Amino acid sequence: MKSKPTVIDLFCGCGGLSYGFIEAGFEVLLGIDHWKDAISTFESTHKNAKGIVANLFTETPKDISKLTGIKDIDVIIGGPPCQGFSIAGKRIIDDERNQLYKSFVSFVKYYQPKVFLMENVPNIVSMGKGIVKDSIIKDFEKLGYTVVYKVLLASDYGVPQNRRRAFFVGTKNNKEFVFPEPTTENPISAKEAISDLSENSVKDGSKYKTEPKSEYQKLIRGKSDGIYNHEITIHSEQTTSIISLVPDGGNYKDLPEELRKTRNVNIAWTRLNSKKPSFTIDTGHRHHFHYKYNRVPTVRESARIQSFPDTFIFLGSKTSQYKQVGNAVPPILAEVLAKEIKKYI
Ligand SMILES: C[S@@+](CC[C@H](N)C(=O)[O-])C[C@H]1O[C@@H](n2cnc3c(N)ncnc32)[C@H](O)[C@@H]1O
Repeated sequence: MKSKPTVIDLFCGCGGLSYGFIEAGFEVLLGIDHWKDAISTFESTHKNAKGIVANLFTETPKDISKLTGIKDIDVIIGGPPCQGFSIAGKRIIDDERNQLYKSFVSFVKYYQPKVFLMENVPNIVSMGKGIVKDSIIKDFEKLGYTVVYKVLLASDYGVPQNRRRAFFVGTKNNKEFVFPEPTTENPISAKEAISDLSENSVKDGSKYKTEPKSEYQKLIRGKSDGIYNHEITIHSEQTTSIISLVPDGGNYKDLPEELRKTRNVNIAWTRLNSKKPSFTIDTGHRHHFHYKYNRVPTVRESARIQSFPDTFIFLGSKTSQYKQVGNAVPPILAEVLAKEIKKYI
């Protein structure tokens, strides 16, 4: 039997990105993150992979290789946090804020994978008027890679969410990676994604009360034996009564003047639009509400919007679960990319 190409996932979080690689037929050997809860979720959802809780600020590829015995790897993937790059002239300089990005580069340098995929926030391509992006490309070209980048919109690839993310892909042997074309012209709506989930909480493992109401729900339920992570948030009476005034797809502008400023951010009092893909799911700021119910989406509803299958169960506190979901690369988008990457191995 032909063995599967191998992957390690750096800054893996709960592993949305690498889950897509598993679905595309890769073998994920390892995920590294300094966040214990996320690694617990990663290990329980990536059955053959090892999860390591480690600080990539200090841990080197050599340390990790020694610890795990992993010497060869086909693909390195990951989303290093790159909040503030410092730039000197036309280059990213090595200071503390860039260290995590540099750590990703050092793993690629050490393992020399056939392909790497680095994910980041979309504005990384315009940071420093493009200097950051150019510098990233140069760093990897120096290691022998042909590098391309693109900002992709998740809803173009079957994810019910208008989330944009930047991806850098590096390949060897001058074979330039070509990003996959959108897989759908009919984006999946929030209603198609979550309409079968109840208004109220259900106990973990509860059976589905209805048949799937859309093709997406059928797909995302997969082989799941029940519903998990569907515990609703109980809001104050004031919050419930204010959000009840906002219609499906509406926002603070739908409120009477005196209520508009009750939360001092523009994104406050926003409802999902049942007929459209969701806006970007965040890590639990509690300003975005269900299109119909007077509450924020549950962790499971958020996970559906991120295209996690119902079999993917999040561990840790509810706050931690929201963060794991919100941080992730949508697995369905990751799977489309992974299938394309497979052609370059
Ligand atoms: C954007 S999230 C990655 C999400 C992941 N790719 C997914 O699809 O689920 C970035 C991750 O970097 C991790 N991280 C931040 N600083 C780190 C450090 N110094 N060492 C290891 N992991 C770190 C965070 O805990 C977080 O899980």
